[in-house]
Amino acid sequence: MKILVLNGPNLNLLGKREPDIYGRHSLDDIMEDLGRTAGEIGVEIETFQSNEEGALVNRIQQSMSGFDAIIINPAGYTHTSVALRDALMACGLPCVEVHLSNPYAREDFRQRSLTAGACLGQICGFGGSGYKLALLALAEELK
Ligand code: DQA
Repeated sequence: MKILVLNGPNLNLLGKREPDIYGRHSLDDIMEDLGRTAGEIGVEIETFQSNEEGALVNRIQQSMSGFDAIIINPAGYTHTSVALRDALMACGLPCVEVHLSNPYAREDFRQRSLTAGACLGQICGFGGSGYKLALLALAEELK
């Protein structure tokens, strides 16, 4: 089982970026931790971060061959990107959306996700652990 883990804009700044909201761990730390959990349950992961919408769309399209599922934190694009939603729908793979923070406890504009409707479900508010929860949920789903 192979899962693509996508991270959107500004998540490359995790650890330095608004640490009271997003925590003090870097994206590399979180992805390494996820890689360990994946190894323990026999799942292979590939990770990709981009600040560019088109690069994320391209990776989603490419995932149609060679991957079984996607975990995605679309970050700011969650609230704006029809293109990412369409790509997730088009690829046909089961997806889980992850957010470190709980967008529903924040500004109004964060309370709408254009991408969640293209996913099996959404996990938010548990910091970096959310990616592990998403991985476990997908592993169960794909059994
Ligand atoms: C985020 C929440 C989004 O609203 C925000 O734009 C982000 C990060 C999160 O992981 O909590 O960049 O996706």
